[in-house]
Amino acid sequence: MGEEQVAPRPEAAAAAAAELTGFVISAEEAERAAAAAGVATVQDLLPLLVPSAMKRAIVPISRFPVGAVGLGASGRVYVGVNLEFSGLPLCHSVHAEQFLVANAAAAGEPALRAVAVSHMPCGHCRQFLQEIRGASGIQILVTTDADEDCAPEWRTVASLLLRPFGPHDLLPENVPLVLEAHDNPLGDPVVATVANGFAAGDLEARLREAAEAAARAAHAPYSECPSGFAVADGDGRIYAGGCLESAAYNPTLGPVQAAIIAMVAAEGCPAGDVVAAALVEKERAAVAQEATARIFLEAVAPHAIFHVYNYKPSDA
Ligand code: THU
Ligand code: ZN
Repeated sequence: MGEEQVAPRPEAAAAAAAELTGFVISAEEAERAAAAAGVATVQDLLPLLVPSAMKRAIVPISRFPVGAVGLGASGRVYVGVNLEFSGLPLCHSVHAEQFLVANAAAAGEPALRAVAVSHMPCGHCRQFLQEIRGASGIQILVTTDADEDCAPEWRTVASLLLRPFGPHDLLPENVPLVLEAHDNPLGDPVVATVANGFAAGDLEARLREAAEAAARAAHAPYSECPSGFAVADGDGRIYAGGCLESAAYNPTLGPVQAAIIAMVAAEGCPAGDVVAAALVEKERAAVAQEATARIFLEAVAPHAIFHVYNYKPSDA
């Protein structure tokens, strides 16, 4: 029967899902997995991957895992999960949708087409998605709709957030948004840096370089205070991320969270195993990250060496 060819076969889908490791799936691998699962398109595969995404959530506080799986214009598939941090206020948490967007941005994905997510995206996430140009057209499917006796179906972000407030309210049209190339000028390094220790070998230089690159790529059009954070594990592996601001301010993802997302996405060590960290930001920034970064490290990785590198914007 023709119908059988497009209907997902549960065992095949489960096998395909189980096979997929990592937080970024190449276009070729995604096509192969869709074919193996018996679905017509990669977009149809996304909901089938949500259960495996949920298993990777880190939720010591809520025990409520959220998984999101998105398809980019490149054909690549991105996974996002929620992250919570014991001992810190809830505002340090990362939502699965934010993780997914930061993960796609870090991979240089130019546009997001569709996202399947285990639970209905909250107001902050609907707002956060507005930082992507053309966000209103992104398709969303909520897999647990099935539990509510309504068939999970694709709907647009526009249908979830009517008359959105967004970048268009604050920025000129030509300012790059999330998923668009950023090259923020940092200015001149300020000689005196704040440090609470000395990292071994070239780790210090590599951390600083990674945090600088992340600050250059950060999305900070509202504060004009781009910041980047980098963390190193005990094996000298480095993970970095820059802030992703929201026009509505509060849904903003900070640079510390962005770096931890990069670490989780690379299937690195737990955040508690961070041995050294570096922050790059403007000197006396109107939106400063240093105090928050210190609070985070104190609670999550208290023995980590931490360096702050400030920059003085050159007079343009
Ligand atoms: N959560 C998400 O990841 N996405 C949403 O939009 C809804 C809420 C997470 C945040 C927190 O870790 C847990 O679910 C409970 O709110
Ligand atoms: Zn949310």
